[in-house]
Amino acid sequence: GRVLSVASECVPLIKTGGLADVVGALPGALRAEGWEMQVLLPAYRRLRDLLPGMGEVWREPDLWGGEGVVYQGEVEGVPVLLLDAPHLYDREGGPYNSAGGDWPDNPQRFAALSWVAARMAREGFAGWKPDVLHAHDWQAGFAPAYLAYGGSGGVGSVITVHNVAFQGWADAGMLGMLRLPREAFHPGQLEYYGGLSSLKAGLVSADRITTVSPTYAQELMRPEFGMGMQGVIAARSGAVSGILNGVDTGVWSPETEPIAFSARAMKGKAQARVALCEEFGLSVPDGPLAIVVSRLTDQKGIDLLPQVVPDLIAAGGGLIVLGSGDPALEAAMRGLESRFPGRVAVRIGYDEGLSHRLFSGADAVLVPSRFEPCGLTQMYGLRYGTIPVVALVGGLADTVIHASPAALAAGVATGVQFHPTDAVAFAQALRHLVALYRDPKTWVRMQKNAMTHPVGWETSAAAYAALYAGLVA
Ligand code: ADP
Ligand code: GLC
Repeated sequence: GRVLSVASECVPLIKTGGLADVVGALPGALRAEGWEMQVLLPAYRRLRDLLPGMGEVWREPDLWGGEGVVYQGEVEGVPVLLLDAPHLYDREGGPYNSAGGDWPDNPQRFAALSWVAARMAREGFAGWKPDVLHAHDWQAGFAPAYLAYGGSGGVGSVITVHNVAFQGWADAGMLGMLRLPREAFHPGQLEYYGGLSSLKAGLVSADRITTVSPTYAQELMRPEFGMGMQGVIAARSGAVSGILNGVDTGVWSPETEPIAFSARAMKGKAQARVALCEEFGLSVPDGPLAIVVSRLTDQKGIDLLPQVVPDLIAAGGGLIVLGSGDPALEAAMRGLESRFPGRVAVRIGYDEGLSHRLFSGADAVLVPSRFEPCGLTQMYGLRYGTIPVVALVGGLADTVIHASPAALAAGVATGVQFHPTDAVAFAQALRHLVALYRDPKTWVRMQKNAMTHPVGWETSAAAYAALYAGLVA
Protein backbone atom coordinates (compact mmCIF):
# COMPACT_ATOMS: atom_id res chain seq x y z
CA GLY A 1 0.00 0.00 0.00
CA ARG A 2 0.84 3.70 -0.09
CA VAL A 3 0.90 6.36 2.59
CA LEU A 4 1.24 10.12 2.32
CA SER A 5 2.83 11.32 5.56
CA VAL A 6 2.46 15.03 6.43
CA ALA A 7 4.61 16.78 9.00
CA SER A 8 6.56 19.92 9.80
CA GLU A 9 9.85 18.16 10.64
CA CYS A 10 11.76 15.21 9.21
CA VAL A 11 15.31 13.96 9.74
CA PRO A 12 17.65 14.59 7.90
CA LEU A 13 16.05 17.82 6.65
CA ILE A 14 14.72 19.76 9.61
CA LYS A 15 14.55 18.88 13.31
CA THR A 16 13.63 20.54 16.58
CA GLY A 17 12.81 17.36 18.51
CA GLY A 18 11.89 13.69 18.42
CA LEU A 19 9.03 14.31 15.98
CA ALA A 20 11.64 14.73 13.23
CA ASP A 21 13.42 11.49 14.15
CA VAL A 22 10.17 9.54 13.98
CA VAL A 23 8.82 11.08 10.77
CA GLY A 24 12.20 10.47 9.12
CA ALA A 25 12.43 6.86 10.31
CA LEU A 26 8.93 5.73 9.36
CA PRO A 27 9.39 5.49 5.56
CA GLY A 28 12.30 3.07 5.94
CA ALA A 29 10.62 1.10 8.70
CA LEU A 30 7.36 0.79 6.73
CA ARG A 31 9.13 -0.13 3.50
CA ALA A 32 10.20 -3.32 5.24
CA GLU A 33 6.47 -3.99 5.82
CA GLY A 34 5.55 -3.48 2.17
CA TRP A 35 4.28 0.10 2.53
CA GLU A 36 5.51 2.96 0.35
CA MET A 37 5.58 6.26 2.21
CA GLN A 38 6.30 9.78 0.97
CA VAL A 39 6.69 12.68 3.40
CA LEU A 40 5.25 16.12 2.62
CA LEU A 41 7.04 19.03 4.34
CA PRO A 42 7.22 22.80 3.95
CA ALA A 43 10.21 24.02 1.93
CA TYR A 44 11.72 26.16 4.67
CA ARG A 45 14.44 28.63 3.64
CA ARG A 46 17.33 26.24 4.20
CA LEU A 47 15.61 23.45 2.26
CA ARG A 48 15.03 25.52 -0.87
CA ASP A 49 18.55 24.70 -2.12
CA LEU A 50 17.28 21.17 -2.71
CA LEU A 51 14.49 22.20 -5.06
CA PRO A 52 16.51 22.49 -8.29
CA GLY A 53 17.42 18.80 -7.96
CA MET A 54 13.79 17.74 -7.54
CA GLY A 55 10.84 17.35 -9.90
CA GLU A 56 7.66 19.40 -9.82
CA VAL A 57 4.57 17.25 -9.12
CA TRP A 58 1.86 19.65 -7.96
CA ARG A 59 0.79 23.25 -8.28
CA GLU A 60 -1.64 24.96 -5.91
CA PRO A 61 -2.64 28.40 -7.16
CA ASP A 62 -4.04 29.96 -4.03
CA LEU A 63 -2.38 29.31 -0.69
CA TRP A 64 -3.21 32.22 1.54
CA GLY A 65 -1.51 34.95 -0.41
CA GLY A 66 0.51 33.15 -3.02
CA GLU A 67 1.04 30.03 -5.02
CA GLY A 68 2.51 26.71 -3.81
CA VAL A 69 4.56 24.25 -5.83
CA VAL A 70 5.36 20.73 -4.62
CA TYR A 71 8.65 19.11 -5.61
CA GLN A 72 9.43 15.42 -5.29
CA GLY A 73 12.78 13.81 -4.54
CA GLU A 74 14.73 11.57 -2.23
CA VAL A 75 17.08 12.67 0.54
CA GLU A 76 19.26 10.02 2.19
CA GLY A 77 16.73 7.35 1.34
CA VAL A 78 13.71 9.31 2.54
CA PRO A 79 11.15 10.02 -0.23
CA VAL A 80 10.19 13.65 0.32
CA LEU A 81 7.76 16.16 -1.15
CA LEU A 82 8.62 19.78 -0.46
CA LEU A 83 5.89 22.40 -0.59
CA ASP A 84 7.50 25.59 -1.84
CA ALA A 85 5.42 28.63 -0.92
CA PRO A 86 7.95 31.41 -0.29
CA HIS A 87 5.37 33.81 1.15
CA LEU A 88 4.80 31.29 3.97
CA TYR A 89 8.07 29.44 4.50
CA ASP A 90 11.03 31.34 3.01
CA ARG A 91 12.00 33.12 6.23
CA GLU A 92 14.94 33.49 8.57
CA GLY A 93 14.26 31.58 11.80
CA GLY A 94 12.83 28.28 13.01
CA PRO A 95 9.90 26.33 11.59
CA TYR A 96 7.45 27.80 14.12
CA ASN A 97 9.05 30.99 15.36
CA SER A 98 11.73 33.61 15.00
CA ALA A 99 13.54 35.43 17.77
CA GLY A 100 10.43 37.57 18.11
CA GLY A 101 8.15 34.62 19.00
CA ASP A 102 5.73 32.40 17.07
CA TRP A 103 5.10 33.37 13.45
CA PRO A 104 1.76 35.22 13.64
CA ASP A 105 0.48 33.46 10.51
CA ASN A 106 1.16 29.93 11.79
CA PRO A 107 -2.52 28.96 11.34
CA GLN A 108 -2.30 29.81 7.61
CA ARG A 109 1.21 28.38 7.21
CA PHE A 110 0.21 24.95 8.46
CA ALA A 111 -3.31 25.09 7.03
CA ALA A 112 -1.57 25.48 3.66
CA LEU A 113 0.54 22.37 4.26
CA SER A 114 -2.58 20.45 5.32
CA TRP A 115 -4.67 21.76 2.44
CA VAL A 116 -2.15 20.61 -0.14
CA ALA A 117 -1.79 17.25 1.64
CA ALA A 118 -5.53 16.59 1.53
CA ARG A 119 -5.80 17.60 -2.13
CA MET A 120 -2.81 15.53 -3.22
CA ALA A 121 -4.11 12.53 -1.28
CA ARG A 122 -7.61 12.83 -2.69
CA GLU A 123 -6.56 13.31 -6.30
CA GLY A 124 -3.23 11.53 -6.45
CA PHE A 125 -0.18 13.02 -8.16
CA ALA A 126 2.47 11.95 -10.66
CA GLY A 127 0.79 8.58 -11.06
CA TRP A 128 0.80 7.92 -7.32
CA LYS A 129 -2.36 7.80 -5.18
CA PRO A 130 -2.07 7.05 -1.47
CA ASP A 131 -4.38 4.68 0.39
CA VAL A 132 -3.78 6.51 3.65
CA LEU A 133 -3.01 10.07 4.74
CA HIS A 134 -0.93 10.10 7.93
CA ALA A 135 -0.85 13.46 9.73
CA HIS A 136 1.57 14.28 12.57
CA ASP A 137 0.71 16.68 15.40
CA TRP A 138 -1.06 20.05 15.23
CA GLN A 139 0.89 21.21 12.20
CA ALA A 140 -0.88 18.62 10.04
CA GLY A 141 -4.11 18.50 12.05
CA PHE A 142 -6.23 20.23 9.42
CA ALA A 143 -5.25 17.64 6.80
CA PRO A 144 -7.68 14.90 7.96
CA ALA A 145 -10.31 17.63 8.44
CA TYR A 146 -9.96 18.95 4.87
CA LEU A 147 -10.09 15.36 3.66
CA ALA A 148 -13.22 14.61 5.68
CA TYR A 149 -15.08 17.84 4.81
CA GLY A 150 -14.03 17.97 1.17
CA GLY A 151 -14.56 14.27 0.32
CA SER A 152 -12.04 11.59 1.18
CA GLY A 153 -11.65 10.14 -2.32
CA GLY A 154 -11.39 6.72 -0.69
CA VAL A 155 -8.32 7.71 1.32
CA GLY A 156 -8.14 6.65 4.97
CA SER A 157 -6.66 8.99 7.56
CA VAL A 158 -4.55 8.71 10.70
CA ILE A 159 -3.38 11.40 13.07
CA THR A 160 -0.50 10.78 15.45
CA VAL A 161 -0.20 12.82 18.64
CA HIS A 162 3.47 13.33 19.48
CA ASN A 163 2.79 15.94 22.13
CA VAL A 164 -0.64 17.18 23.20
CA ALA A 165 0.93 20.27 24.78
CA PHE A 166 0.98 21.87 21.33
CA GLN A 167 -2.56 22.30 20.01
CA GLY A 168 -2.45 24.72 17.08
CA TRP A 169 -4.72 27.42 18.46
CA ALA A 170 -6.46 29.82 16.07
CA ASP A 171 -9.09 32.45 16.57
CA ALA A 172 -12.73 31.48 15.92
CA GLY A 173 -12.93 34.39 13.46
CA MET A 174 -10.47 32.56 11.18
CA LEU A 175 -12.87 29.68 10.49
CA GLY A 176 -14.00 30.76 7.02
CA MET A 177 -10.59 32.06 6.03
CA LEU A 178 -9.12 28.67 6.94
CA ARG A 179 -11.66 27.06 4.56
CA LEU A 180 -13.49 25.19 7.30
CA PRO A 181 -17.27 24.68 7.23
CA ARG A 182 -19.31 26.99 9.48
CA GLU A 183 -21.77 24.22 10.36
CA ALA A 184 -18.92 22.24 11.94
CA PHE A 185 -18.21 25.00 14.46
CA HIS A 186 -19.61 23.33 17.55
CA PRO A 187 -17.96 21.50 20.47
CA GLY A 188 -18.51 18.06 18.90
CA GLN A 189 -16.44 19.10 15.88
CA LEU A 190 -14.20 22.11 15.38
CA GLU A 191 -14.90 24.42 18.29
CA TYR A 192 -12.32 24.27 21.06
CA TYR A 193 -12.98 26.46 24.10
CA GLY A 194 -14.48 29.14 21.90
CA GLY A 195 -11.74 29.00 19.30
CA LEU A 196 -10.12 26.60 16.86
CA SER A 197 -7.42 24.01 17.36
CA SER A 198 -5.86 22.30 14.37
CA LEU A 199 -4.99 19.35 16.62
CA LYS A 200 -8.60 18.96 17.69
CA ALA A 201 -9.71 19.25 14.06
CA GLY A 202 -7.51 16.29 13.26
CA LEU A 203 -8.61 14.31 16.31
CA VAL A 204 -12.31 14.60 15.49
CA SER A 205 -11.97 13.90 11.77
CA ALA A 206 -9.24 11.27 11.31
CA ASP A 207 -10.29 7.65 10.97
CA ARG A 208 -7.71 6.58 13.53
CA ILE A 209 -5.76 8.31 16.28
CA THR A 210 -2.39 7.05 17.42
CA THR A 211 0.09 8.28 19.94
CA VAL A 212 3.68 7.33 20.52
CA SER A 213 3.41 4.98 23.50
CA PRO A 214 0.70 2.79 25.05
CA THR A 215 0.95 4.55 28.42
CA TYR A 216 0.57 8.01 26.85
CA ALA A 217 -2.52 6.72 25.02
CA GLN A 218 -4.08 6.05 28.42
CA GLU A 219 -2.74 9.25 30.00
CA LEU A 220 -4.14 11.40 27.19
CA MET A 221 -7.67 10.56 28.25
CA ARG A 222 -7.09 11.86 31.77
CA PRO A 223 -7.17 15.49 32.90
CA GLU A 224 -3.68 15.34 34.48
CA PHE A 225 -2.12 14.75 31.06
CA GLY A 226 -4.76 15.59 28.45
CA MET A 227 -4.17 19.35 28.67
CA GLY A 228 -7.80 20.07 27.81
CA MET A 229 -7.94 17.54 24.98
CA GLN A 230 -8.80 14.56 27.26
CA GLY A 231 -12.53 14.68 26.51
CA VAL A 232 -11.99 14.87 22.77
CA ILE A 233 -9.70 11.84 22.83
CA ALA A 234 -11.76 9.82 25.31
CA ALA A 235 -14.82 10.33 23.10
CA ARG A 236 -12.92 8.48 20.37
CA SER A 237 -11.29 5.86 22.59
CA GLY A 238 -12.29 3.07 20.21
CA ALA A 239 -10.15 4.66 17.48
CA VAL A 240 -7.12 5.36 19.70
CA SER A 241 -3.99 3.25 19.95
CA GLY A 242 -0.49 3.70 21.33
CA ILE A 243 2.37 2.57 19.12
CA LEU A 244 5.79 2.93 20.71
CA ASN A 245 8.45 4.83 18.77
CA GLY A 246 11.62 3.02 17.82
CA VAL A 247 15.08 4.44 17.32
CA ASP A 248 17.23 4.22 14.23
CA THR A 249 19.62 1.47 15.31
CA GLY A 250 21.81 2.18 12.28
CA VAL A 251 22.53 5.67 13.59
CA TRP A 252 22.47 4.81 17.29
CA SER A 253 24.82 1.89 17.64
CA PRO A 254 27.85 1.67 19.93
CA GLU A 255 29.49 -0.78 17.51
CA THR A 256 29.93 1.96 14.90
CA GLU A 257 31.10 4.82 17.15
CA PRO A 258 34.70 6.08 16.78
CA ILE A 259 35.44 4.40 20.14
CA ALA A 260 33.42 1.26 19.50
CA PHE A 261 32.02 -1.17 22.04
CA SER A 262 29.26 -3.75 22.40
CA ALA A 263 27.47 -5.75 25.07
CA ARG A 264 30.18 -8.40 24.77
CA ALA A 265 33.17 -6.05 24.63
CA MET A 266 32.73 -3.09 26.95
CA LYS A 267 36.34 -1.88 27.08
CA GLY A 268 35.57 0.87 24.57
CA LYS A 269 32.91 2.31 26.84
CA ALA A 270 35.43 2.81 29.62
CA GLN A 271 37.76 4.53 27.14
CA ALA A 272 34.94 6.72 25.88
CA ARG A 273 34.19 7.70 29.48
CA VAL A 274 37.74 8.88 30.09
CA ALA A 275 37.83 10.68 26.74
CA LEU A 276 34.59 12.45 27.57
CA CYS A 277 35.85 13.66 30.94
CA GLU A 278 38.98 14.93 29.21
CA GLU A 279 36.94 16.75 26.56
CA PHE A 280 35.01 18.57 29.28
CA GLY A 281 37.85 19.06 31.74
CA LEU A 282 36.14 16.92 34.37
CA SER A 283 37.98 14.80 36.89
CA VAL A 284 37.01 11.17 36.18
CA PRO A 285 34.34 10.48 38.81
CA ASP A 286 34.41 7.31 40.91
CA GLY A 287 30.62 7.37 41.08
CA PRO A 288 28.27 7.38 38.06
CA LEU A 289 28.82 9.95 35.31
CA ALA A 290 25.33 11.14 34.34
CA ILE A 291 24.20 13.07 31.26
CA VAL A 292 21.19 15.07 30.17
CA VAL A 293 20.54 15.60 26.43
CA SER A 294 17.35 17.56 26.12
CA ARG A 295 15.34 20.57 25.19
CA LEU A 296 15.50 22.70 28.34
CA THR A 297 11.79 23.14 29.06
CA ASP A 298 9.31 22.67 31.85
CA GLN A 299 8.14 19.37 30.26
CA LYS A 300 11.56 17.83 30.84
CA GLY A 301 11.79 18.55 34.60
CA ILE A 302 15.15 20.28 34.14
CA ASP A 303 14.33 22.70 36.98
CA LEU A 304 14.69 19.78 39.42
CA LEU A 305 18.38 19.28 38.66
CA PRO A 306 19.75 22.04 40.95
CA GLN A 307 17.95 20.35 43.86
CA VAL A 308 19.29 16.84 43.27
CA VAL A 309 22.71 17.28 41.70
CA PRO A 310 24.57 18.35 44.89
CA ASP A 311 23.84 14.94 46.46
CA LEU A 312 24.90 13.12 43.30
CA ILE A 313 28.21 15.01 43.34
CA ALA A 314 28.65 14.35 47.08
CA ALA A 315 28.15 10.64 46.32
CA GLY A 316 31.03 10.75 43.84
CA GLY A 317 29.05 11.26 40.65
CA GLY A 318 29.45 13.73 37.79
CA LEU A 319 27.13 15.42 35.31
CA ILE A 320 27.25 16.75 31.75
CA VAL A 321 24.28 18.65 30.33
CA LEU A 322 23.74 19.26 26.61
CA GLY A 323 20.67 21.28 25.74
CA SER A 324 19.07 24.57 24.92
CA GLY A 325 15.74 26.26 25.41
CA ASP A 326 14.26 28.29 28.24
CA PRO A 327 16.78 31.04 29.17
CA ALA A 328 16.06 30.64 32.90
CA LEU A 329 16.86 26.92 32.71
CA GLU A 330 19.99 27.60 30.65
CA ALA A 331 21.10 30.00 33.40
CA ALA A 332 20.30 27.44 36.11
CA MET A 333 22.45 24.87 34.30
CA ARG A 334 25.33 27.33 34.00
CA GLY A 335 24.92 28.00 37.71
CA LEU A 336 25.41 24.29 38.46
CA GLU A 337 28.52 24.25 36.35
CA SER A 338 30.13 27.15 38.19
CA ARG A 339 29.08 25.70 41.55
CA PHE A 340 30.75 22.35 40.83
CA PRO A 341 33.81 23.02 38.68
CA GLY A 342 35.44 19.83 37.45
CA ARG A 343 32.33 17.84 38.38
CA VAL A 344 29.55 19.38 36.31
CA ALA A 345 29.88 20.57 32.71
CA VAL A 346 27.21 22.30 30.64
CA ARG A 347 27.06 22.84 26.89
CA ILE A 348 24.25 25.13 25.78
CA GLY A 349 23.39 24.38 22.16
CA TYR A 350 22.41 21.61 19.82
CA ASP A 351 25.11 19.12 18.85
CA GLU A 352 24.29 15.75 17.32
CA GLY A 353 27.93 14.55 17.27
CA LEU A 354 28.48 15.46 20.90
CA SER A 355 25.29 13.66 21.90
CA HIS A 356 26.78 10.43 20.49
CA ARG A 357 29.95 10.90 22.53
CA LEU A 358 27.85 11.57 25.63
CA PHE A 359 25.80 8.39 25.26
CA SER A 360 29.00 6.44 24.57
CA GLY A 361 30.95 7.66 27.58
CA ALA A 362 28.32 8.20 30.29
CA ASP A 363 27.06 5.72 32.87
CA ALA A 364 23.53 7.08 33.16
CA VAL A 365 21.09 9.35 31.30
CA LEU A 366 18.62 11.39 33.34
CA VAL A 367 15.10 12.00 32.00
CA PRO A 368 13.01 13.55 34.81
CA SER A 369 10.06 14.53 32.59
CA ARG A 370 6.72 15.77 33.94
CA PHE A 371 5.13 14.18 30.89
CA GLU A 372 6.77 12.31 28.04
CA PRO A 373 4.72 11.00 25.11
CA CYS A 374 7.51 8.60 24.21
CA GLY A 375 11.01 9.97 24.66
CA LEU A 376 13.96 8.81 22.60
CA THR A 377 17.00 9.56 24.77
CA GLN A 378 16.19 6.84 27.31
CA MET A 379 16.25 4.40 24.38
CA TYR A 380 19.61 5.73 23.16
CA GLY A 381 20.74 5.16 26.74
CA LEU A 382 19.59 1.54 26.63
CA ARG A 383 21.45 0.95 23.35
CA TYR A 384 24.71 2.29 24.80
CA GLY A 385 24.51 0.66 28.23
CA THR A 386 23.96 4.14 29.67
CA ILE A 387 21.43 3.36 32.38
CA PRO A 388 18.26 5.49 32.14
CA VAL A 389 16.96 7.20 35.28
CA VAL A 390 13.47 8.29 34.27
CA ALA A 391 10.19 9.60 35.60
CA LEU A 392 7.40 7.03 35.49
CA VAL A 393 5.33 8.70 32.77
CA GLY A 394 4.36 8.02 29.16
CA GLY A 395 6.88 6.20 27.03
CA LEU A 396 9.41 6.32 29.86
CA ALA A 397 7.15 3.89 31.72
CA ASP A 398 6.93 1.61 28.67
CA THR A 399 10.61 1.37 27.71
CA VAL A 400 12.52 1.02 30.99
CA ILE A 401 12.41 -1.94 33.42
CA HIS A 402 12.80 -0.53 36.90
CA ALA A 403 15.46 -2.04 39.16
CA SER A 404 12.98 -3.20 41.76
CA PRO A 405 14.05 -6.01 44.10
CA ALA A 406 11.97 -8.44 42.02
CA ALA A 407 13.43 -7.28 38.69
CA LEU A 408 16.96 -7.42 40.12
CA ALA A 409 16.35 -10.91 41.48
CA ALA A 410 15.02 -12.01 38.10
CA GLY A 411 17.99 -10.27 36.42
CA VAL A 412 15.89 -8.21 34.01
CA ALA A 413 16.27 -4.60 35.21
CA THR A 414 17.42 -1.97 32.72
CA GLY A 415 17.07 1.31 34.62
CA VAL A 416 15.58 3.30 37.46
CA GLN A 417 12.10 4.86 37.46
CA PHE A 418 10.67 7.33 39.92
CA HIS A 419 7.30 8.82 40.72
CA PRO A 420 6.08 11.48 41.15
CA THR A 421 8.23 13.91 39.16
CA ASP A 422 9.58 15.88 42.10
CA ALA A 423 12.95 16.49 43.74
CA VAL A 424 12.35 14.03 46.59
CA ALA A 425 11.62 11.06 44.31
CA PHE A 426 14.34 12.09 41.84
CA ALA A 427 16.95 12.34 44.61
CA GLN A 428 15.91 8.91 45.90
CA ALA A 429 16.28 7.49 42.37
CA LEU A 430 19.79 8.93 42.13
CA ARG A 431 20.74 7.33 45.47
CA HIS A 432 19.46 4.07 44.05
CA LEU A 433 21.55 4.63 40.92
CA VAL A 434 24.70 5.22 42.96
CA ALA A 435 24.10 2.03 44.98
CA LEU A 436 23.57 0.00 41.79
CA TYR A 437 26.71 1.50 40.27
CA ARG A 438 28.75 0.55 43.32
CA ASP A 439 27.69 -3.09 42.94
CA PRO A 440 29.67 -4.10 39.81
CA LYS A 441 27.96 -7.45 39.28
CA THR A 442 24.50 -5.90 39.26
CA TRP A 443 25.67 -2.95 37.17
CA VAL A 444 27.21 -5.10 34.45
CA ARG A 445 24.06 -7.21 34.33
CA MET A 446 21.88 -4.11 33.96
CA GLN A 447 24.08 -2.79 31.17
CA LYS A 448 23.81 -6.09 29.30
CA ASN A 449 20.04 -6.14 29.76
CA ALA A 450 19.78 -2.57 28.56
CA MET A 451 21.93 -3.14 25.49
CA THR A 452 19.96 -6.20 24.41
CA HIS A 453 16.55 -4.63 25.04
CA PRO A 454 14.89 -4.23 21.61
CA VAL A 455 14.50 -0.54 20.72
CA GLY A 456 14.38 -0.77 16.92
CA TRP A 457 11.37 -0.12 14.70
CA GLU A 458 10.44 -3.73 13.82
CA THR A 459 7.52 -4.26 16.20
CA SER A 460 6.12 -0.77 15.80
CA ALA A 461 6.42 -0.78 12.01
CA ALA A 462 4.33 -3.94 11.98
CA ALA A 463 1.76 -2.21 14.20
CA TYR A 464 1.52 0.78 11.82
CA ALA A 465 1.26 -1.57 8.85
CA ALA A 466 -1.64 -3.39 10.52
CA LEU A 467 -3.33 -0.08 11.27
CA TYR A 468 -3.01 1.07 7.64
CA ALA A 469 -4.20 -2.29 6.35
CA GLY A 470 -7.30 -1.97 8.52
CA LEU A 471 -8.13 1.30 6.79
CA VAL A 472 -7.79 -0.14 3.30
CA ALA A 473 -9.92 -3.22 3.96
P1 ADP B 1 11.34 15.80 22.46
O1 ADP B 1 10.90 15.46 21.09
O2 ADP B 1 10.21 16.04 23.40
O3 ADP B 1 12.34 16.89 22.49
P2 ADP B 1 12.61 13.16 22.41
O4 ADP B 1 13.38 12.45 23.46
O5 ADP B 1 11.54 12.42 21.70
O6 ADP B 1 12.07 14.50 23.08
O7 ADP B 1 13.56 13.61 21.23
C1 ADP B 1 14.57 14.56 21.39
C2 ADP B 1 15.56 14.38 20.26
O8 ADP B 1 16.36 15.54 20.14
C3 ADP B 1 16.52 13.24 20.50
O9 ADP B 1 16.94 12.73 19.25
C4 ADP B 1 17.67 13.95 21.22
O10 ADP B 1 18.87 13.27 21.16
C5 ADP B 1 17.72 15.24 20.47
N1 ADP B 1 18.25 16.38 21.21
C6 ADP B 1 17.61 17.17 22.10
N2 ADP B 1 18.40 18.17 22.53
C7 ADP B 1 19.58 18.01 21.88
C8 ADP B 1 20.82 18.75 21.88
N3 ADP B 1 20.98 19.84 22.62
N4 ADP B 1 21.81 18.30 21.08
C9 ADP B 1 21.64 17.20 20.31
N5 ADP B 1 20.51 16.48 20.28
C10 ADP B 1 19.50 16.87 21.04
C1 GLC C 1 7.43 14.64 21.09
C2 GLC C 1 7.48 14.12 22.52
C3 GLC C 1 8.47 12.99 22.72
C4 GLC C 1 8.39 11.99 21.59
C5 GLC C 1 8.55 12.70 20.25
C6 GLC C 1 8.48 11.74 19.06
O1 GLC C 1 8.40 15.59 20.83
O2 GLC C 1 7.77 15.18 23.43
O3 GLC C 1 8.20 12.34 23.95
O4 GLC C 1 9.40 11.01 21.74
O5 GLC C 1 7.52 13.62 20.09
O6 GLC C 1 7.26 11.04 19.00
